[in-house]
Amino acid sequence: MGARIVVLISGSGSNLQALIDAKARGALSGDIVRVISSSKKAYGLERSSKHGIPTRVHSLYPYTKGIAKEDKSGRADARKNFEIDLASVVLEDKPDLIVCAGWLLILGSEFLKRVNGVPIINLHPALPGAFDGTTHAIEMAWKKCQDEGAPLIAGCMVHFVIEEVDRGEPVVIKELQLMPGEESLEKYEERVHAAEHVAIVEAVQKVLKANGESAGTEKQH
Ligand code: GRF
Repeated sequence: MGARIVVLISGSGSNLQALIDAKARGALSGDIVRVISSSKKAYGLERSSKHGIPTRVHSLYPYTKGIAKEDKSGRADARKNFEIDLASVVLEDKPDLIVCAGWLLILGSEFLKRVNGVPIINLHPALPGAFDGTTHAIEMAWKKCQDEGAPLIAGCMVHFVIEEVDRGEPVVIKELQLMPGEESLEKYEERVHAAEHVAIVEAVQKVLKANGESAGTEKQH
């Protein structure tokens, strides 16, 4: 049994699919033991089931249902309980690596402190320090390039997850050159997703290799 990978998704799961395809061609040294989705409607759940990967839905909705938007402390408590439960759900599968692949919810301290010691990586469709914390990074980069009328280096990255959103140490960076007026947003978006599907596999392999090596050295002593 290879390293145990738990993948968190929220939507289509095309990056999850990239990991599944990599496994099928023998290019992934770990095993996806569980896919957890923040939405029961995520197509990524179907992708998982097609490949016999166990799935779980862990939605924020049941926690916040009935709490008014204005009730800040009530929603904060709900979010805390969501994260505490998510941590125990994730840990049930004894992961060696947690991969956020299109997971759209911030993982805060309540989650991070409980899974401390398990590396978590996240895919973000922007370069380090650019457009952190937004789910519209692709569009914002493209628009910045059009507005400024100058070439822009954009792209995507996979980084370690820390409390500061999208600020963890990069694992894999894929730079893409944007030229103003030369490419539609849709075309750029396609290039970003293609780059993500490569980056996510490379990042998993890089982290597993680094951990495997360190674990290996531990075993030698
Ligand atoms: C990707 O651009 C990812 O970076 C973002 O969600 C998009 C869709 O991901 N967070 P997927 O198709 O659900 O893997």
